[in-house]
Amino acid sequence: MISRSYVISGPYNRQGYTNTSHSREDALVQEDVAPIRVGLLGAGTVGSQTARLLVEQKDELAARIGRPIELTGVACLDPSETDPFPWIDKSVVTTDTMSVATNADIVVELIGGTGVARKFVLAAIESGASVVTANKALLAKYGPEIYAAAEAKGVDIYFEASVGGAIPFLKPLRESLVGDKVTSMLGIVNGTTNYILDEMTTKGLDFDDVLKDAQAKGYAEADPTGDIEGYDAANKAAIMATLGFHTNVTIDDVSVEGITKITLEDVANADKLGCVIKLLGRSVRCEDGTAYAYVAPHLIHKESPLAAVEDVFNAIMVDGNATGEVMFYGKGAGKLATASAVVADMLDSIEHKDRRRRIMWGDGSKKLLRPLDTLRSAWYVRFKGAREDIESILPVESLSEPVEGVFVVQTSKIPTAEMDAAAEKLNAVGKVCAAMRIL
Ligand code: HSE
Repeated sequence: MISRSYVISGPYNRQGYTNTSHSREDALVQEDVAPIRVGLLGAGTVGSQTARLLVEQKDELAARIGRPIELTGVACLDPSETDPFPWIDKSVVTTDTMSVATNADIVVELIGGTGVARKFVLAAIESGASVVTANKALLAKYGPEIYAAAEAKGVDIYFEASVGGAIPFLKPLRESLVGDKVTSMLGIVNGTTNYILDEMTTKGLDFDDVLKDAQAKGYAEADPTGDIEGYDAANKAAIMATLGFHTNVTIDDVSVEGITKITLEDVANADKLGCVIKLLGRSVRCEDGTAYAYVAPHLIHKESPLAAVEDVFNAIMVDGNATGEVMFYGKGAGKLATASAVVADMLDSIEHKDRRRRIMWGDGSKKLLRPLDTLRSAWYVRFKGAREDIESILPVESLSEPVEGVFVVQTSKIPTAEMDAAAEKLNAVGKVCAAMRIL
């Protein structure tokens, strides 16, 4: 029988509790209580660092929540994967992932992907555990199903690390900004592509060369498709739109365009127009309650705070009808940074164990997303052809002198459907080499 006597205590340590200290870590500590059992699925880059933080900060974390946290299971494909991590107790390492997923108070899913991760997360929920995950692809695809399962079981799912890595973004979005009606979210949410575009802009380096450099530095995956084709950002945009607009948005609802077609010519043209090119995840709520969500490269004016986001950093601007603009900025990736967000979620989950957090995730029946056809934007167009064709087909705001028959056009604001139709006509008489929204 667990005793539930409480004492006000100073830092918890191996020698026992003390109530003589009044340090910052003073906390309400339950004596003689069973530890919180944590099962870790995946001991890779983020998993190993999560284990490290749990071990290195054991005393502080226990003091904070009043109970020790114990890593009772670490599941991985091959136990030798944990050899480089001396802080992981080898006696709890196993290849039996299902047993770890179903024998813990909190299950931390860091396997990644949309395959087996779904099975283990659903099993963990079914066993009564709360789940912490950094898996944006899983949530963007199966979020409604997973959250419904958690709701039915009365447990919770936390996923701060899935968007913006170490940046506290989802929690402020669903808590601090809850009194606000979010009208738009605009973000650089993929560090790899921001690095590539930044290097192209500041050093004049070619896309392929910077991509190789990004892979060598460990930013981009060996198969970088998810980053450069925009899918990683689209997963994050789906999660952001879900929380910001209180509806279910999945990856299938998000229109995606990556950065693979961007050339140094576009980068130079953007500069002449006073802009830089950034891959943005954007969601906008319309007056009638519907919303747009998409990922695409944009020209943004150099005065925009987003233009100053360099290297692999992320930044997200949220606009609300009460708060106005709020900006979040920081490291969007990195093993320790992401692990820190995972550990914070675990503490949140423990502190709210008896009263689940509602994240306003709908039941899947409400679909607010609409196609982009009616979204109005100014456009940058690089076109090889005749001036008369441009002037008769596009609402021209500015037009460059041609260089080897190529014009740079800036249009007035037009709906996407109108731009698509114009591009089709222009391609019949010349070649649209590039077209991007200008913000
Ligand atoms: N590949 C991702 C990025 C990692 O570059 O942002 C973090 O989700």
